[in-house]
Amino acid sequence: KVLILDFGSQTTQLIARRIREIGVYTEIISGDTLHQDIDTQNVRGIIFSGSPYSVYSEDAPQLDPEILSLPVPKLGICYGLQRVTHDLGGTVERKHTREFGRSRISFRIPHPLFHTIPDRFVSWMSHGDSLDRVADGFELVAESENHHPACVWNERYNFTGIQFHPEVSHCEYGMKILENFVFEICQAKAEWSMERYVELAGEDIRKKVKDRPVLLLISGGVDSTVVGGLLLSALPAEQVHLMYIDTGLMRKGESERVATTLASLGAKNLYLINAEDSFLPALAGVSDPEEKRRIIGDMFISVQEEEIAKRTIENSILAQGTLYTDLIESGKGVGTKAQVIKSHHNVRSPLVEKKRERGEIIEPLSLLYKDEVRALGLALGIDQKIVGRHPFPGPGLGVRILGEVTKEKCDILRDADAIFIQELRLRNLYDKIWQAFCVLLPVRSVGVAGDAREYGYVLALRAIISADGMTADVYPFEMQDILEISSIITNKVHQIGRVVYDISSKPPATIEWE
Ligand code: XMP
Repeated sequence: KVLILDFGSQTTQLIARRIREIGVYTEIISGDTLHQDIDTQNVRGIIFSGSPYSVYSEDAPQLDPEILSLPVPKLGICYGLQRVTHDLGGTVERKHTREFGRSRISFRIPHPLFHTIPDRFVSWMSHGDSLDRVADGFELVAESENHHPACVWNERYNFTGIQFHPEVSHCEYGMKILENFVFEICQAKAEWSMERYVELAGEDIRKKVKDRPVLLLISGGVDSTVVGGLLLSALPAEQVHLMYIDTGLMRKGESERVATTLASLGAKNLYLINAEDSFLPALAGVSDPEEKRRIIGDMFISVQEEEIAKRTIENSILAQGTLYTDLIESGKGVGTKAQVIKSHHNVRSPLVEKKRERGEIIEPLSLLYKDEVRALGLALGIDQKIVGRHPFPGPGLGVRILGEVTKEKCDILRDADAIFIQELRLRNLYDKIWQAFCVLLPVRSVGVAGDAREYGYVLALRAIISADGMTADVYPFEMQDILEISSIITNKVHQIGRVVYDISSKPPATIEWE
């Protein structure tokens, strides 16, 4: 495996992800790990990450100098390079020309890190401090267009340091550079796969859980389903308790789909709770979006606690489908909106808080990105149709029925949405779209049916493409597709008299309407 010593950079996880993509197992360990705690038997190489700190900051993370003497190749990225340079007597300085963004790299001497990479390739820089004088025993391998050292090499310590970030997708040949480090320099083998992840995550789960029962709340989405599959592959089915709460605001056939999927993965203790009669009355007469969200969130927590108490699943460990991106969103505050996103499932519930305080929580997806979770789902034998599903908001149809939510409106929206999604699948459009859904508007418009004038609901279709939901573009349908879909919906769902297509990108609009 390749170890990553983490000095707190935002891109540490991305380095890990890239190494996994290359097919090599990697583990992130704290930057202050001591050399005696590293078992070099299994380690092929060590990467020192970047950091938000300058080596001159008072609380700058330190490196155990003995780690440099371990008999494996090392790669320092940005701060990782500066730390080593500073510790070995070179100088790091705040230069006039700070380097952010693209920078052309020229080679001075050949080095295996750049095997098959053309001279003057375009790297990605993001640093305030730069190397000024390299330490004794270091050779300059490459420099940036501003003539700052971009790569240095120290034979004695088998250490290569680079100032740019090969893990970032804007860095030309970034993957090739990491591959060169891993294969040419570390001589690691590509033996890593999602199947192997299933085994290792399974061992980890067994070690943490021992013989205690594990409880997982299933939302119907991809992440919790994959955690369910992982738990069932790691533990005896009797030990795994899966709870799904149908709020009455779910899509058509959702509960059945959850049940069939989990049963096919071997679930035995599956609690499907129909709580429509708690949620819908609580929403009666409420049309303010934030108020609706609050009611749904609070009700969710209270139903959840009540149902868990009923089943006396004592002494349990709680499993959660938190992803790496959820952690950045809620922890480091990418934006307050992002913090709100998963709050009602994951963060604020008193049950989760209590379990977290006591360390009774496992989050086996917390190192993975969404597309890796999908790959993991496939490796666990979950159907492509399930792992490829579009995201669905926690408050469900509650925020897709504008204004007051009623059972009648939920049924209308469910029918229309199911037709829309089915048509996208039939036309092979579903996987080209990041998220698609229908919104029921709180207005009625006039229409004709036979000889009579009728007032029907107005339905908005939404289909967007996006990388992560933070920004979004409208999906550019072929006109014929959207016309046909509209007429299928109005023919089949009589209460809908008119269909419109939402052509707003995000920003300025959001993806959901409420
Ligand atoms: P917006 O509407 O903010 O949506 O552009 C961005 C993404 O987040 C989803 N979303 C939610 N997910 N609880 C959730 O679990 C929520 O309250 C919520 N609101 C929006 C939305 O579907 C989109 O994928």
